[in-house]
Amino acid sequence: MKALLIFDSYFGNTKMIAETIAKELGKDTKAISVSDFNMKELEGVDLLVAGSPIIGWKPSEKMGNFLTSIGRDQLKGLKAATFDTRVKIFHGDAAKKISQKLIEAGAEIVGKPQAFFVKGKEGPLVDGEIEKAIKWAKSIKIKTEQND
Ligand SMILES: Cc1cc2nc3c(=O)[nH]c(=O)nc-3n(C[C@H](O)[C@H](O)[C@H](O)COP(=O)(O)O)c2cc1C
Repeated sequence: MKALLIFDSYFGNTKMIAETIAKELGKDTKAISVSDFNMKELEGVDLLVAGSPIIGWKPSEKMGNFLTSIGRDQLKGLKAATFDTRVKIFHGDAAKKISQKLIEAGAEIVGKPQAFFVKGKEGPLVDGEIEKAIKWAKSIKIKTEQND
């Protein structure tokens, strides 16, 4: 299975989760900043995973720009999963919003959008979140391979 992780990250927490997931998904997977994404990156990819910090109740600006840049049906045939990082005391959602946009672009979502928590806005990640990311990665890998 070939996967691509695209993420945005200001303080490194989302990047750390993205790289953990990428490692778990196997050697054919790479994690890149969403600003380096272009459609060519999707060649041969079975699963796209997108992750962003929640910034003001929604995905970050760069993730938002990516989501508005992809047209209807452009991700048809692709499986996708999404996650966000967030501070517990705040509200809002990015993972679900990213999933909704990817569905509009034709992707099929595998696994439920997942939140990972940071202790403060600059982090670090709450204890246990790396292990949670490994578990989530295993589950989306199984779901992607089952549906092949
Ligand atoms: C300007 C700003 C707005 C934020 N808004 C929210 C928010 O609405 N909800 C939330 O849970 N966390 C919010 N946060 C916390 C971020 O989600 C947290 O800093 C982020 O998960 C860290 O990820 P990163 O290290 O990858 O940048 C905000 C952080 C910043 C800097």
